[in-house]
Amino acid sequence: MSDKKHQVTRRQFLNYTLTGVGGFMAAGLLVSPIRMAIDPVLKESSSGDLVNVGISVDEITDVPQRVDWTVEQVDGWYKSEPSRSAWVYKDENGEIVALSPICTHLGCVVSWEGSEEHPNRFYCPCHDGLYEKDGTNVPGTPPLTPLAVYEQEVRDGILFLGNPIDRKGA
Ligand code: FES
Repeated sequence: MSDKKHQVTRRQFLNYTLTGVGGFMAAGLLVSPIRMAIDPVLKESSSGDLVNVGISVDEITDVPQRVDWTVEQVDGWYKSEPSRSAWVYKDENGEIVALSPICTHLGCVVSWEGSEEHPNRFYCPCHDGLYEKDGTNVPGTPPLTPLAVYEQEVRDGILFLGNPIDRKGA
């Protein structure tokens, strides 16, 4: 009777085998999505890197000029190259200023002297938003905060820009 207890029946053998194979297949199916979910988080982000925006310091004047460039962006497993823009000029001290062109009201794009009625200011055509040359929002117009300012660095006479930094309202 005790010999019978230790014998594995054909049914039990099939059960063990199928359970083992099924478990192995289930683990294989789970590993891939888990790795896909975790791997991008563990990778180093390049979002804080400064990028060569293709303009030398000598080309920058006291008149704001629009500079456009692209950045490499990795969002999980999706890679893209979104475009970025800045209004760049030298202030009265010769310091480089790089402003985001994104209106802080509802996100339209502002232009330097975009309206003949408002010279020497940034103008947003969506709701007549105005900003001074240094990006400060003009009170009484829709934007309540200044234009963001890009992180910047000059390397070998070339301007590098990073992320735009938000500023507090005027
Ligand atoms: S989006 Fe610029 S003023 Fe409204």
